[in-house]
Amino acid sequence: MTQVLSIASECAPLVKTGGLADVVGALPSALAGQGVAMRVLLPGYPAVMAAMGKAKPVLEEPDLFGGPARVLAGAAHGLDLLVLDAPHLFDRAGSIYLGPDGKDWPDNPERFAALSWIAARIGAGGVDGWAPAVLHCHDWQAALVPEYLHAMGASGRIGTVLTIHNIAFHGLADPARLKSLRLNPHRYTREGFEFWGRISALKAGLLGADRLTTVSPTYAAELMTDAFGMGLDGVMRLRQGALSGILNGIDAQAWNPATDPAITPYKTARGKAANKAALRAEMGLPEAEGPLCVVVSRLTEQKGLDLLLRALPALLDRGGQLALLGSGDAALETAFRSAAGNANVAVRIGYDEALSHRMIAGGDAILVPSRFEPCGLTQLYGLRYGTIPVVALTGGLADTVINASHAAMSARVATGIQFSPVTVEALSAALIRLCALYANPADWAMLQRNAMRQEVGWGASAAAYAALYQDLLASK
Ligand code: ADP
Ligand code: GLC
Repeated sequence: MTQVLSIASECAPLVKTGGLADVVGALPSALAGQGVAMRVLLPGYPAVMAAMGKAKPVLEEPDLFGGPARVLAGAAHGLDLLVLDAPHLFDRAGSIYLGPDGKDWPDNPERFAALSWIAARIGAGGVDGWAPAVLHCHDWQAALVPEYLHAMGASGRIGTVLTIHNIAFHGLADPARLKSLRLNPHRYTREGFEFWGRISALKAGLLGADRLTTVSPTYAAELMTDAFGMGLDGVMRLRQGALSGILNGIDAQAWNPATDPAITPYKTARGKAANKAALRAEMGLPEAEGPLCVVVSRLTEQKGLDLLLRALPALLDRGGQLALLGSGDAALETAFRSAAGNANVAVRIGYDEALSHRMIAGGDAILVPSRFEPCGLTQLYGLRYGTIPVVALTGGLADTVINASHAAMSARVATGIQFSPVTVEALSAALIRLCALYANPADWAMLQRNAMRQEVGWGASAAAYAALYQDLLASK
């Protein structure tokens, strides 16, 4: 078995703000069948500490960025965990990233530098009796690992992989913090981890990791462009040879319409009717002629939902309906609350796992009009539940949906609708196409059947990660 330590700031079902958690939580069991034993290193947030059963200290650090810390080995929800117990950094109520003022915790750079430091120590042999062969880092919160390994003189011995789930988040810090972050000032250069006058944790990882991956092949290509690289496209082009795109899967147990405890289970799309009626009742929506569209999303610029607000007439004028579950930007929350003034629009502001299942089971279509989307998971849930995805042609949305073009309909392979460019006009046109397809029962049933048959699990991607680790270790 190849021993791998996965390092991340979130992991479902313990602590989650988005898809990163789903992926980090799903990888260990997906990889178990591939000859990979994966442990997960997480910050000791209150929710994580509480979920761990019996835990054993395996590493101590008397002063980790301002206080004593230790690593505890334990298990929860079938995950083999190492948890960084550092109360001065992680024992805080509320959001894992934001303080009570809604802004990033001021010491976020140090909090996640500490996570990366400890991962590097484990990689450098810090835990008796267990030595990972690969450190698999996720996003900026774990991106300083290669830098610290280098500083510890251990980078030759161990493989490092950095997965980019979203290049919009860089982990920037003021250079005055170089010392407090235990970073080598000589590497604070344009060729190093300096980014427009700040320290960039992500850039350090992009330059230092042996291999880079991202969560879809299309996003891998987009990352090298000015339009999607968020200022790091030059670095991505530089590291092109080390970069690959491996599509996310979904947790096929948690998201299985035949066994889902949150819904009235079903094996074929006919079983959606009971769930749709229940969802309409729950959301206070009347009967209607057109499709019931759902959205389950963070409300941020990335997700393009401001465009949906403006494209809504295209749907509502044709008898369609919208039910949205989301939270995030205050302005978007307010705008959706006021859109719910229309009897055919229902909005729930908040985060609700069980309701997300009821919405995906009860909806006819799921809308994902993102401006960029590294992979996206809700369109995959939609496919599995026979809830037709209507998505922007970008990132993982481009890779996971087969557009209902004339050719794909004739070949009977279409699974959803894609639109491009990401504008109000193109989204409106997609909603009009949706209503037309929905009005044709034979076409609609075919889409649902195709969608439910599409492979959205981890099989192929788990094999791709396992092959990547092997290839990396063979090159060491
Ligand atoms: P991102 O990670 O960019 O937010 P993804 O589509 O990859 O986008 O993952 C989002 C995850 O978070 C999915 O599992 C989705 O169901 C979940 N999610 C998002 N918003 C909510 C919400 N308001 N309530 C429940 N689950 C949500
Ligand atoms: C990020 C991306 C999303 C992706 C998720 C998991 O949050 O925004 O597209 O599915 O990570 O990789």
